[in-house]
Amino acid sequence: MKLYMVSLGPGDYDLITLKALKALKNADAICVPTKSEDNSFKRSMTYKIVKALMDEHGFDKPIIPMYTPMRFKVEDWQNQVNILQESFKQYDTLSFVTLGDSAVYSTVYYLLDLIEVQNPELYKNSEVIPGVTSFSDASAKIKKPLCVGDSSFSIVPLHKKNVPNTTVYMRPKIGMSTEDIPQSGELCTFENLNYQGETISSYRKEHVEKYMTLFIDFVKAQ
Ligand SMILES: C[S@@+](CC[C@H](N)C(=O)[O-])C[C@H]1O[C@@H](n2cnc3c(N)ncnc32)[C@H](O)[C@@H]1O
Repeated sequence: MKLYMVSLGPGDYDLITLKALKALKNADAICVPTKSEDNSFKRSMTYKIVKALMDEHGFDKPIIPMYTPMRFKVEDWQNQVNILQESFKQYDTLSFVTLGDSAVYSTVYYLLDLIEVQNPELYKNSEVIPGVTSFSDASAKIKKPLCVGDSSFSIVPLHKKNVPNTTVYMRPKIGMSTEDIPQSGELCTFENLNYQGETISSYRKEHVEKYMTLFIDFVKAQ
């Protein structure tokens, strides 16, 4: 039993990662969100992308529709989790797809939060595959950086004010103390990601040992 949560990127099929493409190719079936109650894909961007990828890269997988009404209700996420669990009776490996990057306003974590409680074994066998965000793509299209030199950038939702804020801290100096980094949630330390000596700590390391270190203060959504 393996569940891939696959980020498809911002809609340009070539901006999918190789890892995401491999997860789609390795899946026995692909779970695709649709806003249509009749489970059709007439309005589904995600379906278009998956179809185009299958055509271009020469593979064909059964598609499982996941009705996603965008009402932000637990019952809707539960319904999707039920479809996943039901599908595992027939398939061993499933890929669930999401637009852009799964880390940014994606259904992926609503589903994983439920799966973690209801099926810990499946949670353990799940893997999230990151992707290119819409705003990375926007920046690249007009050749303007999101942050460079002494600047930073924020993601601010427009649908609601005064929401909790997760912050990424980058570009530390080797040897610096981390005690001044503000913390509202869980401050995690990531060192040498994907390089030799990769370390992920679910706490604040006291001192910075490597240049390739970033900290994320993860706050819980309301
Ligand atoms: C639910 S969020 C999903 C974000 C996505 N996971 C990402 O990584 O970009 C949807 C919002 O992302 C932005 N967005 C996503 N795709 C976009 C696109 N192709 N063009 C412009 N904005 C986009 C819009 O602000 C939209 O309201």
